[in-house]
Amino acid sequence: MTRHLITSAIPYINGIKHLGNLVGSQLPADLYARYQRARGNEVMFLCATDEHGTPAELAAAKAGKPVAEYCEEMHAVQAEIARGFRLSFDHFGRSSSPQNHRLTQHFAGRLADAGLIREVSEKQVYSNADGRFLPDRYIEGTCPNCAYDKARGDQCENCTKQLDPTDLIEPRSAISGSTDLEVRETKHLYLKQSGMRDELNAWIDSKTDWPILTTSIARKWLNDGDGLQDRGITRDLDWGIPVKKGDEDWPGMEGKVFYVWFDAPIEYIACAGEWAEAHGLDDAAWQRWWRTDMGADDVRYTQFMGKDNVPFHTLSFPATILGSGEPWKLVDYIKSFNYLNYDGGQFSTSQGRGVFMDQALAILPADYWRWWLLSHAPESSDAEFTWENFQASVNKDLADVLGNFVSRVTKFCRSKFGEAVPEGGTWGAREEALIGHLTEQLKAYEGHMEAIEVRKAAASLRAIWVAGNEYLQDAAPWSTFKTDPDQAAAQIRLALNLIRFYAVISRPFIPDAAAQLLQAMQTGDDRWPNDLTETLGLLAPGHAFTVPDVTFRKITDEEREAWQVEFSGTRG
Ligand code: MF3
Ligand code: ZN
Repeated sequence: MTRHLITSAIPYINGIKHLGNLVGSQLPADLYARYQRARGNEVMFLCATDEHGTPAELAAAKAGKPVAEYCEEMHAVQAEIARGFRLSFDHFGRSSSPQNHRLTQHFAGRLADAGLIREVSEKQVYSNADGRFLPDRYIEGTCPNCAYDKARGDQCENCTKQLDPTDLIEPRSAISGSTDLEVRETKHLYLKQSGMRDELNAWIDSKTDWPILTTSIARKWLNDGDGLQDRGITRDLDWGIPVKKGDEDWPGMEGKVFYVWFDAPIEYIACAGEWAEAHGLDDAAWQRWWRTDMGADDVRYTQFMGKDNVPFHTLSFPATILGSGEPWKLVDYIKSFNYLNYDGGQFSTSQGRGVFMDQALAILPADYWRWWLLSHAPESSDAEFTWENFQASVNKDLADVLGNFVSRVTKFCRSKFGEAVPEGGTWGAREEALIGHLTEQLKAYEGHMEAIEVRKAAASLRAIWVAGNEYLQDAAPWSTFKTDPDQAAAQIRLALNLIRFYAVISRPFIPDAAAQLLQAMQTGDDRWPNDLTETLGLLAPGHAFTVPDVTFRKITDEEREAWQVEFSGTRG
């Protein structure tokens, strides 16, 4: 038995995520967690909401709520939607938890003691009307290069020129529109990660089995130009984790908080502490997942994330962990994803473009989305969601192949033999050939799941479903029945057992359908198949079953067209 620690990048608190976010981290992480559990391994699958930073403050202000209250509400909303998608987190935590406050302050203290923190005085724009410092991207003005009048303090969106806030003509606060701005001196903490380049390079070099997408991004940031510059880890904001050195005050840092990207990955660890607390367990219970001196050296730790998150997970967070000098677990494998596009453009949270998680669940159950998203995961390149493709995949893979198989087999059996596994007859060459073929395909499927090759795993699973359909087509028990009812009984016995087998191996992709099929087969035996001859005999003659309701329905052209219109604009 292996122990698997699995984390998904933690979604920002401000707003409901779209399907592109889902397929880039939470959903494939769930697939892997479910698979490892099904194989009998011990799994700790963690995710949380990423609650700090200016976007959270502004979203709360827009909602007219105190930020702590806003975050609590949005956490509950995201948790509910995650349940809707059947994301099987062992714990869904919050980066604003007391555990994360303590641990983030602890890491900062350790880094300071190790001489890895320096203080830097800088000049920053302060807005008198807003009563706060403004991050660069919350200052707007006219671009000195192209005269676009909504350029941001970090970059002009129109001509892409990188800017400093002081370059802007007629700068104003993007929050209030006020032009009453001044430059003030402020002090911040910097993490001296530039000195860790060699150590990080050696670590990345040792990861020869990582996806190219992950290592190429990490190497680019490590080696070209300014990727590994020392990094500011504090901000002048009200909302966040107060800057402290362990549990002591940090002179000169009063009223400041840690930068959201400093505390967010630390929440992966703190979340395990939240899990322990929620279950009334002691510190040793979570530390055995996270501390190599507490038993975590035999844990395999896998992280899932979109490609934009890779630098933080390959450089900054490891720098925090290594710099602490403490025996925290480093990640063993980083699975990263490209982007999913929406119907000829990008999914966009700020523009409300695309399909958001709550909207998706309102039109179809989770399994339909899980199947499409995972079988089209943006692994080797960006992928695109179109309604035509969604309709085609659902109708073909789920309704015609899997759903139809289940319905034909169970209905035929009911009408000819009754609602129990029939007896009589024996398997012949056709059945032996099928079992041989399935055995090979199952090995391929397991290999892809172990390697987290999501699309390939989906393709193997689909091939296994197809093999059952082809067998049925070929064996044609409905005609065999007329001449040799015993042989038809043997064929249907095999087919009913295939339904149970499909339920067990498909469960990581389509958990609700799998549960429905196991229930219809009236078995709680969900053991992963080993020897297929044995597996396909588990439901013995006389074992009762029921004909399930439609497992997957087809999407009609009218529905598809209506959804195309409904989701063509932007969300209000
Ligand atoms: N909230 C970030 C995003 O959605 C991800 C944070 S991942 C963590 O891009 F490592 F910081 F936790
Ligand atoms: Zn410009």
